[in-house]
Amino acid sequence: MNPRVITIDGPAGAGKTTISKLLSKKLGCVYVDTGVLYRGVAYEIQRQGIDWENDEALDVFLKNLDLNFLMENDNLVLLSSGIDITNFIRTQSISMLASSSSAKPQVRAALLDIQRNIAKTKEAVFEGRDMGTVIFPNAAYKFFLVADLSVRAKRRYDEMPGDSKDINIVQKEMKIRDRNDSQRQSAPLKPAIDAIEIDASFLTIEQVVEKMLKCIDNA
Ligand code: DC
Repeated sequence: MNPRVITIDGPAGAGKTTISKLLSKKLGCVYVDTGVLYRGVAYEIQRQGIDWENDEALDVFLKNLDLNFLMENDNLVLLSSGIDITNFIRTQSISMLASSSSAKPQVRAALLDIQRNIAKTKEAVFEGRDMGTVIFPNAAYKFFLVADLSVRAKRRYDEMPGDSKDINIVQKEMKIRDRNDSQRQSAPLKPAIDAIEIDASFLTIEQVVEKMLKCIDNA
């Protein structure tokens, strides 16, 4: 039998990564932040100057793309052709480009096997946008995490370094990403019909994880 898979989907800034990390720790399994892969694609598109809206150029680019994950001290390390690019994928421009380029079906297809292969050998908490709907439709437990836009924007704003940040811009860009991610044709952000929805707007990370563990224990 395949190892157990738990999925957490939801919009940007809902707390998926922190919650996945804590939940996986409590369950003694690994966590996989699949947004990192889409960010890796966006980083390479930007670095190589790829005209990604041109299908032919995108296909050639994806054929040569070599992304891989490593786990190092509880943190995911993203390798592109063997080079660690983890520290370059969290900028606002990469966030926006990951959101728009991830709407391309070829991009999603190129990342399918990397995600499913991990689940063949490891029990894991997978977080993203289409974990419960497309990548792991038979997951043991599925959660869909939501939170108010203003709460999510404030969280992202607080995490950002530097003084030149503007919460209005963070919120505006988050709204655009929400729309891109949920209105695209290919694997849009939406809860699986059998997902348990949790509104994390006014809950602490510990309270959300507690709720999840209860669902898992009671199943
Ligand atoms: O989770 P994140 O904010 O790091 O993800 C960045 C973008 O990648 C997000 O706006 C949409 C895309 N993404 C996706 O389409 N499917 C996933 N499973 C994860 C992320």
